[in-house]
Amino acid sequence: MKIDGSVRVPGDKSITQRALLLAAMARGTSQLEDALVSLDTRSAAGSVRALGARVSPLRAGRSVTIAGRGRLHPPLRTIDCGNSGTAARLLLGLLAAHTFRTVLTGDRSLRRRPMGRVTGPLVRMGARFDGSADYLPLAIRGSALAPLRYELPVSSAQLKSALLLAGMAAGVPVAVREPAGRSRDHTERLLRAFGYDVGERGGWIEFAPTGRLEPFALTVPGDFSSAIFLIGAALLAEAGELRISSVGLNPSRTAALDVLRRMGGSVRAEASREALDEPLGDLVVRPSALRATTVGPTEIPGLIDEIPMLAVLASRAEGCTTLRQVGELRVKESDRLSLIAENLRALGGRAEARDNDLYVDGGAEPPRGRVRTDGDHRIAMAFAVLGTLPGARVVVDDMRCADVSFPGFAGMLRRAGGGR
Ligand code: S3P
Repeated sequence: MKIDGSVRVPGDKSITQRALLLAAMARGTSQLEDALVSLDTRSAAGSVRALGARVSPLRAGRSVTIAGRGRLHPPLRTIDCGNSGTAARLLLGLLAAHTFRTVLTGDRSLRRRPMGRVTGPLVRMGARFDGSADYLPLAIRGSALAPLRYELPVSSAQLKSALLLAGMAAGVPVAVREPAGRSRDHTERLLRAFGYDVGERGGWIEFAPTGRLEPFALTVPGDFSSAIFLIGAALLAEAGELRISSVGLNPSRTAALDVLRRMGGSVRAEASREALDEPLGDLVVRPSALRATTVGPTEIPGLIDEIPMLAVLASRAEGCTTLRQVGELRVKESDRLSLIAENLRALGGRAEARDNDLYVDGGAEPPRGRVRTDGDHRIAMAFAVLGTLPGARVVVDDMRCADVSFPGFAGMLRRAGGGR
């Protein structure tokens, strides 16, 4: 396959969902350009609508307006967060500071994902839950919250953001510490833009309720975690060059670029502008011969969503790649750790998940076989890229799940050269 030309990936999922939630909490009308229009962001929009905000329909290429009422209002029904862990966990943080009762649920995948890591510290702050609150569906009743100083059991932006947003909504200080590496910091950047004091002191991320949420206008950068699939396709191509324009290049999201460069990948970042404190730019990718590498625990939070694609690339690199301490993958939209290893083996490769580490051997045989996604968008897209190799016969059991984060993925991969 040859790649060429220039593509633009859809808006960032993390930033779009945060912007929807914050706009719903501001009093007045906010506007988003280039917001991601996908199943997850529709879930986030639907959730804040049910909590009293007016949100215009999410349509590709159209701006989104959100009329917030200064706080959330009691919902008339159960709130369904669909597949979105970000919407569910961040909303829990906001709802902890509202005195009414809300029931949250999600799809089959989200109902299996751990919520106790969020509800535990929120209970310490003063929120109440019916029952054990370890999984959705769950009922939360918020209250006036107490300040929190808390060591997170996992480096997780969803958990960290839920607690910072609880502090913001309740007007109390919150400090959190992450155990291994830094997770994405979009929430911190957004809060700072509204005058909140959020900074790092001695390894603690400290939030002080000094700011005030106001309606805002934001242009959402392209999602690096969507760009990674096109980066992967371009690296595996035989010739050409691909430009991916206007991608978010927040350093807390781009650890995969360091790993790819260690592997011999040619990916040039041309940083250009900033949108509300979020760096963005173009990526220029050329086909490359890849070699194996080792990815250590502190790097993992900065590339957590890129692991399916990195593992697939490792299966075409020379040598054995090790990803250490990737147990969090077991509680993503699927058990990604097992699925990555199983699917690579199903296509004729050698890969193994042992303890919480992932080992992937590189090979050059054309991949052939059937991929089981368990409805996980990133598994589907990573393995679809493998299907662009010469001689490949890769059948992905469900490509529609890509719509969770990247509607139009298959078409864009074809346009970039794959499948031609
Ligand atoms: C996200 C954080 C990550 C990531 C998810 C989106 C976010 O989860 O996997 O796709 O928007 O904060 P964790 O921070 O829980 O690892």
